[in-house]
Amino acid sequence: MRQATVYIDQAALQYNFNRVKQLAPTAKIVSMVKANAYGHGIKDCLAALSSTDAFGVACLEEALEIRNLGYAQPITLIEGAFSENEMTIAINNNIDVIVHHQLQVKWLLTHKAAYQAKNLKVWVKLNSGMNRLGFKFPEIINIIHTLKAEGFTCVLTMHFANADADNHPLNEQQKNQFLQVKEVCAPIMGSCCNSAAIFKWPELNFDFVRPGIMLYGASPFADQSVHELDLQPVMTFTAEIIALNHIQAGENVGYGSTFSAEQATDIAIVSVGYGDGYPRAFIQPNYVAINGHPTRIIGRVAMDMIAIDVTDLNATLGTVVELWGKDRLVDDVAEANGTIGYELLCRLSSRPVRR
Ligand SMILES: Cc1ncc(COP(=O)(O)O)c(C=O)c1O
Repeated sequence: MRQATVYIDQAALQYNFNRVKQLAPTAKIVSMVKANAYGHGIKDCLAALSSTDAFGVACLEEALEIRNLGYAQPITLIEGAFSENEMTIAINNNIDVIVHHQLQVKWLLTHKAAYQAKNLKVWVKLNSGMNRLGFKFPEIINIIHTLKAEGFTCVLTMHFANADADNHPLNEQQKNQFLQVKEVCAPIMGSCCNSAAIFKWPELNFDFVRPGIMLYGASPFADQSVHELDLQPVMTFTAEIIALNHIQAGENVGYGSTFSAEQATDIAIVSVGYGDGYPRAFIQPNYVAINGHPTRIIGRVAMDMIAIDVTDLNATLGTVVELWGKDRLVDDVAEANGTIGYELLCRLSSRPVRR
């Protein structure tokens, strides 16, 4: 049997969840489990996150999956309902919506009685400069006043465009607008922190924090590793050696013959490739780990196989190779491939076996 395997460490997920609690002790935690829990598999992750206060997802289908698995915590639909019909399904399933455009407000007002009968909160999204979703200042003030006057319980929410960057001028603008709206609309609950903001701005934790990537043990920052942040990688992605070759100086490996050995080299072929979601396009040398030792990938990544240098590593058929996990951090693989850990985690294919 082909051995490309994804292991999910539920204890690591719980450890990271407790890190959020340490960093934001007074806020409720909305665990972001969109995109199949950032590619980790929603079912296993929910089991490890059962003490979370709420879940955050990107669409109704993801929210309904959580309900179907039997979890009763509040769920926030972070892009809101995409139609009036979705609004009614959300209400029937006790799902809080975000509103970020006028039509959503209209649907909400149309279904006000049902919404309020379920004690659901309305998350009102401020567009403070990211310019994806939300009402701008001062339009949002009128919307919040209207919703409050209609008896809704509101949460003012926004998302930072550059929470991972030091000294980006938009951060101050976004913070100031959020604080201003919060003050004008007081009393109102607030939520603006993703993982990076949870680490950087404890004063902005307010009522709900929305950690995503940190729960899964990857770093929200390009210049700080998960070890420095005291987080534990949740996903370990491995495969096994299925062939061993000894090549002489001048021999090539793989498609395009891009690798040419400078000296005699022991190479191993590992049963993983871009068909599993392993990235092909590395722009810097890329490594895997064998028993904690980094060893380089040579030649091109193919659909089902990669070649690695196992000179002096005592590798045999069946030796387990860590593609990312605790020894080879997903963030480092991402950097070598010109992307971010989020993407690699989310875009694994359904092909690796899940454990
Ligand atoms: C609205 C919102 N909140 C929170 C998060 C979590 O962000 P992170 O994974 O960086 O913690 C996301 C992720 O994209 C988001 O879109």
